[in-house]
Amino acid sequence: MRILLTGGAGYIGSHVALVLLEAGHDVLVLDDFSNSSREAIERVEELTGRSIDTIECDLADQAASSAALRDEAFDAVIHLAGLKAVGESVAQPSRYYRTNLVSTLNLLDIMAEHGVTKLVFSSSATVYSPAAEGVLNLDESQPSGTGITNPYGWTKAMNEQIIRDVQTGRPELEAVLLRYFNPVGAHPSGRIGEDPAGIPNNLMPFVTQVAIGRRDHLAVFGDQYPTHDGTGVRDYIHVMDLAEGHLAALDGLRPGVEAYNLGTGDGQSVLDIVKAFSAASGQEVRYEVVAPRPGDVARAVADPAKANRELGWRATRTIEDACRDSWAWQSQNPNGYAGR
Ligand code: UD1
Repeated sequence: MRILLTGGAGYIGSHVALVLLEAGHDVLVLDDFSNSSREAIERVEELTGRSIDTIECDLADQAASSAALRDEAFDAVIHLAGLKAVGESVAQPSRYYRTNLVSTLNLLDIMAEHGVTKLVFSSSATVYSPAAEGVLNLDESQPSGTGITNPYGWTKAMNEQIIRDVQTGRPELEAVLLRYFNPVGAHPSGRIGEDPAGIPNNLMPFVTQVAIGRRDHLAVFGDQYPTHDGTGVRDYIHVMDLAEGHLAALDGLRPGVEAYNLGTGDGQSVLDIVKAFSAASGQEVRYEVVAPRPGDVARAVADPAKANRELGWRATRTIEDACRDSWAWQSQNPNGYAGR
């Protein structure tokens, strides 16, 4: 298939592009490069020996995106483009709602104009409502779309609802909502990886930047949670496993809308990650415990059984693999991609 990949130059998008090309698909990337790099695309081309068609365009600009895609043919869409910084979304809510919602609406219209029915959407575990007491691992039947603590998270939940409503009006639409847990790691070559602009919000890029000496120490957000060592527990999934989940989702598309968790089913604490990363990299990761971050929960771990069962997909890489690959990326590219 020829697949339109929005946000294909970003951290997750570049790994998805690589996996699609290796599976024999053609890839058309649409990206505005506001938080991504052309170099990522070039490196995926080098790694795969395949070329990627690229369109630079802001998907939230209806006239521009519809014109840019007018003469393009594609069989399926994987929609990753969007803004994703939680703190920034609290400070700039209208920018987040406008960008993340309007781009999905435009894309759904463009798909209808082109008669394209296949859609894989990049959602997030953040759509789940706070887990009820006694619920350890979240499955897709858990309540979602209430109690979300920031506009970024709301845009994911609202986009899920928009896709469901558009599918009701266009029953031939085949959509999958992939609820990512915490993507980490990099391609094992260390040629592509996560290159956040500014100070990283997420744990793993912060840890790798401490290890390489770009930051002095990690602030651990709270150590009094009811977890095995008091620090927050998450389900860290290797980005190559996550990327393979998109391929499995494409293969599993059928009319309707289905949500799937992409996670490992295992929980790791902040201190577990610090230890695993130190062991994998041979670098000390200095840290200091500070107050909890507002909006954080003690634990968020997937039940990935539905994706295992219905998509034939499961995460196979370990947290040690992810730490090793993150370090390969960070140590070979201490300042990320050039020109960023
Ligand atoms: C966060 C977002 C989530 C988003 C996801 C991917 C919040 C509340 N949630 O998830 O909506 O989908 O990123 O972008 O922001 N930690 C530290 N020190 C740090 C950074 C993180 O101790 O400098 C801890 C956190 O408290 C948490 C864990 O590390 O326990 C993971 O944090 P992070 O990587 O930001 O992911 P989430 O909070 O799970």
